[in-house]
Amino acid sequence: ERTQVAIIGAGPAGLLLGQLLHIHGIASVILERRSRAYCEGRIRAGVLEQGTVDLLDEAGVADRLHREGLVHGGIHISLDGRRVHVDLAGRAGGRHVTVYGQTEVVKDLIRARLDVPGALHFEAEEVTPQDFDGPAPFVTWRDAEGRSRRLDCDVIAGCDGFHGVTRQCLPEGAITTHERIYPFAWLGILAEAPPVMDELIYARHARGFALYSMRSPSIVRHYVQCAPETDPAAWPDARIWAELRARLGDADGARLTEGRVLEKGVTPMRSFVAEPLRHGRLFLAGDAAHIVPPTGAKGLNLAAGDVHYLTRALVEWYGGGGEAALGAYSARALARVWKAQRFSWWMTAMLHDFGPAASTFDAGLRRAELEYLLSSEAALTTLAENYVGLPF
Ligand code: FAD
Ligand code: DHB
Repeated sequence: ERTQVAIIGAGPAGLLLGQLLHIHGIASVILERRSRAYCEGRIRAGVLEQGTVDLLDEAGVADRLHREGLVHGGIHISLDGRRVHVDLAGRAGGRHVTVYGQTEVVKDLIRARLDVPGALHFEAEEVTPQDFDGPAPFVTWRDAEGRSRRLDCDVIAGCDGFHGVTRQCLPEGAITTHERIYPFAWLGILAEAPPVMDELIYARHARGFALYSMRSPSIVRHYVQCAPETDPAAWPDARIWAELRARLGDADGARLTEGRVLEKGVTPMRSFVAEPLRHGRLFLAGDAAHIVPPTGAKGLNLAAGDVHYLTRALVEWYGGGGEAALGAYSARALARVWKAQRFSWWMTAMLHDFGPAASTFDAGLRRAELEYLLSSEAALTTLAENYVGLPF
């Protein structure tokens, strides 16, 4: 079996890459370890930058997004129960974000990909990239029926997330990694309840950070900062609702409506970058290459950014652009990745409680950073420009 681009992983990065390449007349095959139901059910991100929406438009999969997505021109920031509305669009040239779940993005992309026969295989086991140092790479794998298969290709795209196989199979010394671990995690719930406000609330409180987000006018997605090793079983629904209410303060806390909890999970926090994003004919994109703490809502959007640059590189290369086209990908993508790392770290630091192990001086700086932000037009403009997404 042969294709032009072998893509490992059917998350947002792999699926979007496959679809954009298809639009540009480049064939690809996606190999995904999990089942379709698992990929479509995995609850994750919810905020799409304008640039991500534009890419989904270019890929021809944004019809439902435009019908059902919620366009947000601002966010609320709450500090110890005092809430301030931040007009993002007004400070970012009218650019806004769209609230539309990653699950829905993935469903829309999978449907489009399945229209192309043989372009997407679920339940692919033992996926192994091979010979990517030379001009004839291939991927071996075992299909859902247990048959051993081989996919020959020109290039391999590792879009298999942080725990994927691609980054791990690179030779010793091929990439350098940079990492920061945070002393907390997020406990998230998806629930049947109306949103507290019509836009998201990022709350800093003495009890810890909380985020009040949504998926639709009747489904909310809320998070509370918790200890990193938290077992969700230790947080019965009533405890989560009480904590969410407390961290909003009295006035806004009274607006919080409870509802049936549909999903509950803990997300660890880390910042991680692998560089470069290329080794021979193998390319990394999305979470396979970098992780941001979720506070800035950048994870999925960064994956889309990588895919934009990688698509451009491959289109130029197949169009006769030579090695230079492929060579440009890593530096272009990483320049934007590091800026999003900076923003995600800044949002995370400013809004979370780093606990008793952190110095009281650092705690003072973090609080001052947020108070300065809320008092400064210049700082709010910086927030707006980054939150809606830096240009590609
Ligand atoms: P992924 O979505 O991880 O996709 C990788 C795919 O590769 C998966 O389908 C996986 O099954 C597959 N795969 C892995 N290994 C193999 C293998 N060996 N062979 C074949 N396939 C393989 N971001 C936000 O902005 N906001 C959030 O609230 C948020 N919450 C998150 C919660 C969790 C629990 C996690 C893990 C991430 C969250 N993120 C969030 C980050 C965001 O969801 C990711 O940045 C985004 O999913 C990245 O897309 P991706 O396609 O690069 O990777
Ligand atoms: C959501 C997650 C985020 O990390 C964020 O900053 C905003 C919204 C969400 O899941 O809705």
